[in-house]
Amino acid sequence: MKVPFVDLKTQYSGIKEGVLKEINEVLESTAYICGKKAKKFEEDFAKIHDVKYSIALSSGTDALHVAVHSLGIGPGDEVIVPVNTFIATAEGVSACGATPVFVDNDEQTYNIDPSKIDAAITSKTKAIIPVHLYGQPAEMDRILDIADDHNLYVIEDCAQAHLAEYKDQKIGGLGDIGTFSFYPGKNLGAYGEGGAVTTNDDRLFDFMLKYRQHGSTEKYVHEIIGHNFRMEEIQAGVLNVKLKYIEKWTQNRRRIAALYSKTFADLGISEVITPYNPVHVKPVYHLYIVRVPKREELVKFLNEKGIQTGLHYPLPLHMQKAYSHMGYTPDDFPVAKKLAGEILSIPMYPEMTGDMVEYVCDTVKAFYK
Ligand SMILES: Cc1ncc(COP(=O)(O)O)c(C=O)c1O
Repeated sequence: MKVPFVDLKTQYSGIKEGVLKEINEVLESTAYICGKKAKKFEEDFAKIHDVKYSIALSSGTDALHVAVHSLGIGPGDEVIVPVNTFIATAEGVSACGATPVFVDNDEQTYNIDPSKIDAAITSKTKAIIPVHLYGQPAEMDRILDIADDHNLYVIEDCAQAHLAEYKDQKIGGLGDIGTFSFYPGKNLGAYGEGGAVTTNDDRLFDFMLKYRQHGSTEKYVHEIIGHNFRMEEIQAGVLNVKLKYIEKWTQNRRRIAALYSKTFADLGISEVITPYNPVHVKPVYHLYIVRVPKREELVKFLNEKGIQTGLHYPLPLHMQKAYSHMGYTPDDFPVAKKLAGEILSIPMYPEMTGDMVEYVCDTVKAFYK
């Protein structure tokens, strides 16, 4: 049996007709950039996240840039980010001339460890960016309390967590701004680049809307110096089709994750640590992460048996050359460093069958035997 890490082809075959219709409509309309389809997407995307506004953008990285800039954060300011995340979380801060300050991750949830945030706050700190990593909501109540105490903004990086819930509330509207990615492999993925910001704040919405489009809401009238962060209409059309399925796909991801966890438990593979989910969160399993000994040998064995895997992420941000100028040493973030040596992403996508899940678990068991 072959089990790919993700399978966008099978997903496409199920929605092909609708996607081609949307793309053709865009081509016929000759309105290629941020038009009616993007507007419809913004309304529907805001609705499913129970948030007042969403703005369609060019990528999740750009969404972080827009969010940080729109909060007035720039040179001389610091922003707290988890040290284990995709580099875009920190790049959004760096792009605005501010400094990302890293905080270690929690060994159980893999999200930013709230108990370590206070120590990273200085007089220059302006915001915290919790990442709902792998689709599991970060510990928002504690993070929002810390932000309140120190008068900081909170930007939720929701790139991996469309529709995830924290204490029965959708992510994306819990802080000041939520940022989303629609990179093709994400839970809601375009057929190219795409992203969005969400907010309940009228003033931030107005500013971000202008910043996305050259500081303008009226053609050739520019109120602020902006940028071009607009979403392409073809991508909006694709996302409008996929929005109809996202609830169902999310349920499938949860079902597959539950089956993985149960099968690993039933097989009694003591070497494998499966994901821990606090009772008050509803993750959406962008990734299903296990922690394992002898990871490199296991990866080789799985690949030989037709099972693809991923690593998210092999190097925490403080160990990346791009941030070496900050002078961190590998042991500054012991949890992230340890996790990086143990974590493994095994196949996870809504179209996976129960047989595939069982095959992956059985193959893992065979390796440890
Ligand atoms: C946590 C996180 N933040 C930000 C991004 C950036 O999104 P994009 O690739 O759309 O720029 C990604 C995904 O790539 C991500 O996983």
